[in-house]
Amino acid sequence: MWRSVIAGCGSYLPANKVTNANLAERVETTDAWIRERTGILVRHFAAEGEKTSDLAMAAARAALADAGVDAAEVDLIVLATATPDQTFPATATRVQAGLGCRPGAPAFDIQAVCSGFLYALSVADALIKAGQARTALVIGAETFSRILDFTDRTTCVLFGDGAGAVVLRATPSTGDGGERGILSTHLHADGRHHDLLYVDGGPSSTGTVGHLRMQGREVFRHAVTNLYEVVLEALAANGLQADAIDWVVPHQANQRILDGTAKKLGIDPAKVISTIAHHANTSAASVPLALCEARRDGRIQAGQLILLEAMGGGFTWGSALVRL
Ligand code: UT7
Repeated sequence: MWRSVIAGCGSYLPANKVTNANLAERVETTDAWIRERTGILVRHFAAEGEKTSDLAMAAARAALADAGVDAAEVDLIVLATATPDQTFPATATRVQAGLGCRPGAPAFDIQAVCSGFLYALSVADALIKAGQARTALVIGAETFSRILDFTDRTTCVLFGDGAGAVVLRATPSTGDGGERGILSTHLHADGRHHDLLYVDGGPSSTGTVGHLRMQGREVFRHAVTNLYEVVLEALAANGLQADAIDWVVPHQANQRILDGTAKKLGIDPAKVISTIAHHANTSAASVPLALCEARRDGRIQAGQLILLEAMGGGFTWGSALVRL
């Protein structure tokens, strides 16, 4: 039996910072509204010509360096994105070639919007457990600035660009619940809610890229409920209570969703990693961005039990329980 251990992580935010005040020059909004309703202070937008694969490679290089792993050892890349460089091929294949990872190894994209990193982690974990990969790069990378409608104040202030990555290493499992690695993942989707969060374009519908559309209030309501349930599911599957978790690393969509979910679960808000203030909602990149930042600043330590969770368009949602 193999277990997937997070051997390293890395992240990248584009240099160009866009403050709430900058957005207020483009659309009818205020810094106070954005801060109070979302917790966002600033987001980063990719420069002209800077693509999702560029962000992904920067994060992946940092993750490989953190893990002390050479790119040539990578025998699987799973990249979560809703904003690929091109309709095809997969952005993961550009990352594979760009980083000098092992040619011939599988590399593919996963599309589950804001839950994408959880989906990617779960798929990579399954392939490692099946003995089909030894060293995997799992990446969440997005350039949401390219699909925002800057005349719609209800959405354009919420999102930013960024990337985060982890290196997973196959490690022999002793079956002991206290050992390091991914303990469980749980994934869900409910396609009946398509119209609450979607992009109004695509190759087989309009032939255009389209813009993000969201009924925020409705998404908010579903998010708290779904995240609450998927956390309980993870705890039950591992025979744990909420107080066993050292850190919750949630998708960074709205500070009020983080607070509301923690309250419903009876989890101390101080145990919830929040990085939304300085990168906004970066979709599939937000969970690894938050994870890497909290590891870098020493909050998350080796051996601790962390719970990752996310919810996004589709709807899709999921969780992963990991001992670092
Ligand atoms: O990542 C995938 C998951 N996505 C999410 O989880 C997002 C979930 N939703 C949310 O985070 C929140 O619903 C929003 C931040 C999108 C909106 O917050 P809200 O408290 O639900 O506000 P609201 O939509 O109920 O709007 C309240 C008011 C409205 O004005 P009226 O109708 O009360 O006069 C909006 O028109 O705020 C207005 N408004 C704004 N005002 C200033 C909406 N956007 C803005 C804005 N600036 N940017």
